[in-house]
Amino acid sequence: MLPILKELEKSRENFWNITPDVGAFLFTLIKERNYKIGLEIGTSNGYSGIWLSKALEEQGGHLYTIESHAQRFQMAEENFKKAKIKNITQIKGHAPEAIPKKPKMLDFAFFDATKYEHIKYFEILESRIKKGGMIITDNIISHKEQLEPYIKTVQKNKNFHSEILNIGTGLMLSYRL
Ligand SMILES: C[S@@+](CC[C@H](N)C(=O)[O-])C[C@H]1O[C@@H](n2cnc3c(N)ncnc32)[C@H](O)[C@@H]1O
Repeated sequence: MLPILKELEKSRENFWNITPDVGAFLFTLIKERNYKIGLEIGTSNGYSGIWLSKALEEQGGHLYTIESHAQRFQMAEENFKKAKIKNITQIKGHAPEAIPKKPKMLDFAFFDATKYEHIKYFEILESRIKKGGMIITDNIISHKEQLEPYIKTVQKNKNFHSEILNIGTGLMLSYRL
């Protein structure tokens, strides 16, 4: 993979980045499913965004990514430049308010921000995930207690089938039926 990813892995814990195995998993998943339009909530310094947008790039896709912290937003901008990524739109703001209205339909959404607002993200996005698309949620095992109400909400929803994977800090894949 790109040297920039190796470089960012040295400071991974300071920026709460996904682990490299999760990055590689999401890269393969996006390509295998032929996803084209993705939304990430929680850019941090851009580590996961590089994995996601590189996977999308190979199939002419685009990533939208939201970050509320000004300095991390700027660091991500620099890292995306270093990685020569063009298929990305960075949004500076606080989700859920900053969730873009367009494009309306998404192939996937990746939730990796503050753990208390996931239900709001889900309520806004559940009808905007294409059939066959996914909501991918990070920290499902590491933050099980805080995320319990969210996990239950998604599991009860008949339009989604969810599986929890013991990879990185725990990923929930919620497949739109
Ligand atoms: C766990 S880190 C994201 C790590 C990143 N996805 C990666 O793996 O490289 C969470 C980031 O989400 C941002 N954040 C938290 N709540 C947010 C919100 N409601 N809207 C936008 N950004 C948020 C934080 O500032 C932080 O930089």
